[in-house]
Amino acid sequence: MMLASQQQNPDGVFSDALIENQCLLQLWASHFQISALVSALIYELGKFPQVLAKLRSEQQEIKGEAVDLNAFTWEQLKQMVFLEAVIKETLRTSPPSSTANRRLTKSVVLDGMLYAKGCTVIAEPRLAHIMPEYFHQPELFEPERFLPPRNEGKMYEFIPFGGGVHACLGAQMAMTITKIFACHLIYLFDWQLTGEASFVQFPLKKIKNNYQINLQKR
Ligand code: HEM
Repeated sequence: MMLASQQQNPDGVFSDALIENQCLLQLWASHFQISALVSALIYELGKFPQVLAKLRSEQQEIKGEAVDLNAFTWEQLKQMVFLEAVIKETLRTSPPSSTANRRLTKSVVLDGMLYAKGCTVIAEPRLAHIMPEYFHQPELFEPERFLPPRNEGKMYEFIPFGGGVHACLGAQMAMTITKIFACHLIYLFDWQLTGEASFVQFPLKKIKNNYQINLQKR
């Protein structure tokens, strides 16, 4: 799309440098952020076997006894609402991306505070996601918070993919890849944790590379 736009309008916003940066960002996001998310998901499911059991029941209900791993349809993935809630709760508690930044193009007053033109404002999911006014008992891992009747995680309160016109372009893709990965994982494997994991916080929140789990084929 960017290349097509550049071809039509070589002097438009899509310069070679911008396209190169976007490609690098997308490769980085696909590789690093999704792996941070799935490793945090494996960790949380190891910590909460009752959540894993509920995911397996959902999978069986939707796919029946004969699960064909190569044939998850888009419709079936959409029906996996508890899986989606578990992924969202993992994104809430361990948001892989640490910040969404904006430079102000004009001065604004917000809650009595002046933010001057030119300042950079940072929205930090690790802080937003533990605000008790938006997430009841934020210290608990509770995927149900994203389902009715609680319906927590409103726009601009739940911000793992940022928000507004510069929100993550790959959010749907990341959710779909993670759902497909999780479907295979929970069907094929059992695993146990080997203790508390520690996380690195920069450039994104990610379980330290040397953390190990015990994994067996089911
Ligand atoms: C779990 C995976 C991912 C997370 C947590 C994530 C998170 C984010 C966040 C927080 C932003 C900044 C949003 C803002 O400033 O409001 C962003 C931007 C962006 N992401 Fe992702 N991302 C993920 C995966 C992906 C993937 C797979 C792609 C592409 C294949 C992608 C492409 C982009 C692009 C192009 C932007 C810049 C959007 C813009 O500036 O207009 N992301 N992402």
